[in-house]
Amino acid sequence: MANVEPQECLSVALKLVKQAGDLVRDAIKKKKNIEMKSSAVDLVTETDKAVEKLLITGLSSAFPDHKFIGEESVAGGEKCVLTDEPTWIIDPVDGTMNFVHSFPYTCISVALWVNKDAEVGIVYNPILEHMFTALKGQGAYLNDEKISASGETDLSKALVFSEMGTSHDPEKVDTVITNITTLLTKVHGCRTMGCAALHMSHVARGAADANYTMGVHCWDIAAGSLLVKEAGGVVIDTAESVPWDRAP
Ligand code: IPD
Repeated sequence: MANVEPQECLSVALKLVKQAGDLVRDAIKKKKNIEMKSSAVDLVTETDKAVEKLLITGLSSAFPDHKFIGEESVAGGEKCVLTDEPTWIIDPVDGTMNFVHSFPYTCISVALWVNKDAEVGIVYNPILEHMFTALKGQGAYLNDEKISASGETDLSKALVFSEMGTSHDPEKVDTVITNITTLLTKVHGCRTMGCAALHMSHVARGAADANYTMGVHCWDIAAGSLLVKEAGGVVIDTAESVPWDRAP
């Protein structure tokens, strides 16, 4: 098993994530080169690819034994395999649709998982300068200030994030609409930022009380799930009714 020092991993990753943030901040103002992936609303840009390359190049040079799961590498044909080995799980630009439209809720999400458990989580919105970080067992932070989930358990008092998904498939669209219709009269408010990692980060800071999503990929939630747990929240796979990373 490769050697892992979580604090050192966090420091190295933070430097790279800040460099990646410069790329995103610069590119969000410009015209983007857009390609479609699974659907007309599932997008990738040259910035997604450039950020993923920067992060994987930098991290693999610092930690040559570590493994990687990156959204765009997997889209390019690489296998998405999580073993017990230290594995960096990367979403180079989460909220690509937002980024394409220059809507400033987009982020870089980077997590280090070891023994199939999150050790390090970073979610960085470089446009609004929100840097969320967490180390397992050491709490969650926003720009170096400790953050906590709200602790709200009454749904009628809760502000809840919903996901619109990245598909126009009628069955999936119907599920999204049904969920929102069902929730809307039961919650205090329903919101969406269209960025899974930021939804989880803002739940971790108590700015919303809950988030639900369907059909996300591991890179959308790998860092956010650690932030929520370290902020005192819970992350549940509702299909299994157990914490999602403990599901068999
Ligand atoms: C997507 C966004 C979106 C969520 C999708 C994700 P991407 O990530 O987080 O809010 O609904 O499930 O795939 O494609 O922008 O990295």
